[in-house]
This record gives sequence, C-alpha cells and structure tokens, in this order.
Amino acid sequence: MIVLKTQGLGKIYSSIGNVAYQALEDIDLQVENGEFVGIMGPSGSGKTTLLNLLATIDSPTAGHIEINGVNPSKLSDKNLALFRRHQLGFVFQDFNLLDTLSIKENIILPLVLEGIAPKVIEQRLQPLAQLLQIAGILDKRSYEVSGGQKQRVAIARAFMHQPSLVLADELTGNLDSKAAKDVMDALKDMNEQSKTTVLMVTHDPFSASYCGRIIFIKDGKIFSEIRRGVNQKAFFQQILDALSVLGGNFDDVPITRF
Ligand SMILES: Nc1ncnc2c1ncn2[C@@H]1O[C@H](COP(=O)(O)OP(=O)(O)OP(=O)(O)O)[C@@H](O)[C@H]1O
Ligand SMILES: [Mg+2]
Repeated sequence: MIVLKTQGLGKIYSSIGNVAYQALEDIDLQVENGEFVGIMGPSGSGKTTLLNLLATIDSPTAGHIEINGVNPSKLSDKNLALFRRHQLGFVFQDFNLLDTLSIKENIILPLVLEGIAPKVIEQRLQPLAQLLQIAGILDKRSYEVSGGQKQRVAIARAFMHQPSLVLADELTGNLDSKAAKDVMDALKDMNEQSKTTVLMVTHDPFSASYCGRIIFIKDGKIFSEIRRGVNQKAFFQQILDALSVLGGNFDDVPITRF
C-alpha cells in the first residue's frame, strides 16, 4: 500500500522586491506503508522545504501530495489541523519538549487533549516507553534528562497517536555519536514494530544507514536513489559514495562510526 505519493511537486518562494526562487521542482515520490526513507542533499537543496510541504505546514506552488489517499491542500483549515494531528508525527532537531511538563505529560498531552481514555493512553505508553528505554524517566522534567533521552521522548510523542507517517528533520543533529546511535536504534525499532512509515531528512551518513532507502536531492530535484541490502555497513559505504557523486557542502560530515 502506498502511504505517500507526490506528483510534480514544486515550490517557488517569492518575497516582495526579490526574485522568485525555485526551491523544489518536479518531485515524484512514492513511499510504501512501513518504509523507512531518508532524504539527503547538500545544504540549500530543498530538504526542509520538501518536509514542510509533506508536513502540510507549507503549500506547494506546483503538483500535489497524497497522504493515505488524501490531498491535504483540498482540506479546510479545520480538517487540515485534524488531519495533521491524526495522520502525522513529527520529530525535530531541537526536541520541542515543554519544560513545564513531565516527560510522561509531554508524551501523552496530545492524546489527553483528544479525550482518549486514561486507561488506553497508559496501555499505549508502557510498551512504547519500554521499547524506547525511557520508562525510568517518565516522571522527570525535560531539563533533567540527556539530549538522547529527550529525542527518544520526542519519538514516543510522535508515534503515540499511531500516525500513518512520521516526519523527522535532522533528529540527530544536536547529539553526540553515542546518543545519535541510541536514537537511531530506537527510531528503527519503532518503525519495525509499529510498521509506521518514517521519512527522515539527515546530513549524517551514519544515521542515514538505518534507512531502507535514501533519496538524494540536489538543486531542488531528485538526483538519485539507493536501497539498502542486508548489511548496514555496506549501505553506509554506498551512502558515502553517493554523496561524493552528489557533491556540494558536506564538509562537516561524514564521520566514520563503524
Ligand atoms: N521561506 C523562504 N523564503 C525564501 N527562500 C527560502 C525560504 N525557505 C528556504 N528558502 C530557500 O530555498 C532553498 C532550499 O532551502 P531548504 O531550507 O529547503 O534547504 P535544506 O536542503 O533544508 O538545507 P539545509 O541542509 O541547510 O537545512 C534555499 O536556497 C533557501 O535559501
Ligand atoms: Mg534543512
């Protein structure tokens, strides 16, 4: 089953007094249910723009998107907000947790606001917290836990309402390599156990090597695509090779972690 489809997707930014800028052009994507897809490309190639369109936070200037058969741009504002809340999960580079709430409250807040029964919430939370190894920190505040733990909390929050698609932008960007590995292990476990589709933008070849497929974009267009075999280490090497063909600004990476 196809969970995400884009056809001829494009985005032109135009600001008053400035020349229009084509940030994305003619993007055709098809993502199957349960896939774990990475998006890579040089700085300024349009990755965040693409994610914002898929996240329905921004609208395309060409083409269209279908998520679970629904074209979000056809929805009213109210239905779009509901669609986003029910169908999509988000994980950001800077965690976006609320300091005034406990870790547990951060994770369950959206479901509490939806009016879901506390018993159901608890039944969902416990296995998720075990899998993500955050069961022991649920009563802490976000400023009392590490960056890696914060990001695993953010993953729990993104999956808690059982979305059809989880979108992540540079989720390991603020983490050291040990914490990044823990977070990627956690995200992969979640993807496999829940069969939830994940689409992740990353600069980091090591994080990308957890994906089943990587789409490379350059100058706003799809440049190439590679699929992973059984071996993560071999895939990591394939990613480095693809990045060197792609060129562009990858000076800060890659760091070999195998
Ligand atoms: N709101 C905006 N208005 C005008 N131009 C924009 C806007 N947002 C992004 N751009 C431009 O569109 C291009 C793509 O930006 P985008 O943020 O999608 O790149 P990116 O691939 O995510 O880069 P990075 O790896 O640095 O995060 C860039 O040239 C950027 O300057
Ligand atoms: Mg970006």
